[in-house]
Amino acid sequence: MACVAAGFLLAGAATEPSAIAAKKRNKGSVKKEAFGKTKDGKAVEAYTLVNKNGLKARIITYGAMLTEMHVPDKDGLLGDVVLGHDNLENYLDGHPYFGVTTGRVANRIAKGKFILDGKEYTLALNNDPNHLHGGTEGIDKKVWSARVSRSKAGPAVAFSYTSPDGEEGYPGRLKMKVTYTLTDDDELQIEYLATTDKATPVNLTNHAYWNLAGKGTILDHVLQINADHYTPVDATGIPTGEILKVDDVMSFIKPTAIGARIDKITGEPGGYDHNYCLNKKESGKLSLAARVEESTSGRVLEIFTTEPGIQLYTGNFLDGTEVGKGGQKYEFRNALCLEAQHFPDSINHPQFPNTVLRQKQKYTQTTIHKFSVR
Ligand code: GLA
Repeated sequence: MACVAAGFLLAGAATEPSAIAAKKRNKGSVKKEAFGKTKDGKAVEAYTLVNKNGLKARIITYGAMLTEMHVPDKDGLLGDVVLGHDNLENYLDGHPYFGVTTGRVANRIAKGKFILDGKEYTLALNNDPNHLHGGTEGIDKKVWSARVSRSKAGPAVAFSYTSPDGEEGYPGRLKMKVTYTLTDDDELQIEYLATTDKATPVNLTNHAYWNLAGKGTILDHVLQINADHYTPVDATGIPTGEILKVDDVMSFIKPTAIGARIDKITGEPGGYDHNYCLNKKESGKLSLAARVEESTSGRVLEIFTTEPGIQLYTGNFLDGTEVGKGGQKYEFRNALCLEAQHFPDSINHPQFPNTVLRQKQKYTQTTIHKFSVR
């Protein structure tokens, strides 16, 4: 177990100490460990970041994926608030995008087709009849390289992956860097950077499945989303192109239990799986997108982002077949995802904010997950 603490002290051997005790002991650390090998023999590593208050995030190089996020409850006890697996094999066997970095284009592209600068491109239809989350082998299934990066804000690791021209049907060689920082203000900050040598659509996000109680349904989690509008979808999850005002069922302007009206969204399987258009004073600037509160643990998660949208997905496809960390069965609606992003299928909807990245331009995104208790 090699320690690659870059300017940070080692976290210490104690397991799951109270956040307060940890605070007195250390200033944060980064620890690197082996996390198995892919089927074609590539070594995967896990990086564990611990901040000065004892919060802990674990990210692996396979999919630049957040596999663990330990945050205190109202009594100071740490608990893991993301779904995932204990070992690489279970991830390799297939999973519903737990904690991954998603792309090159997150969410759906209608019928896997788009026209860019007069040329038609065809992508994999891995979510019949559409393309989903970058295709059959998206960036969530690649081994990224990692580097401990120095940040005054707290322990940090930067993950890089270059997607070759034509990978999964996308044009251009896309260089991506995703930096996770666990700040001393108890924020998991994710910063994205991408450049290309040819015009190409880019829409990156993180697909963490949150459960602030650590188990059970999320129907009692109270959610607030700073959005007056959303993009309605057809039966296959593709935006119709309209931008509608949120109605009584869709609105999370006022803090509302997720389960309060969820059954009104019928369909197969029903429930929230929608992009919200965030209210922003200035586009591209960091602002509060969503807030989630869970009353038994007292845990609060606030998400700030530079992105124009956020996808709310309420774990509607979870059905108990996925057995995760510690043998926990992930049942229907046992987690929610809040994926900061550009709107789905933007490449086919010119009225949506632009997702085309061109040569010499930089794609950037910052999304912050701030943890607290009340
Ligand atoms: C996204 C999509 C959902 C589903 C999940 C993964 O959130 O919007 O429809 O595909 O990813 O299961």
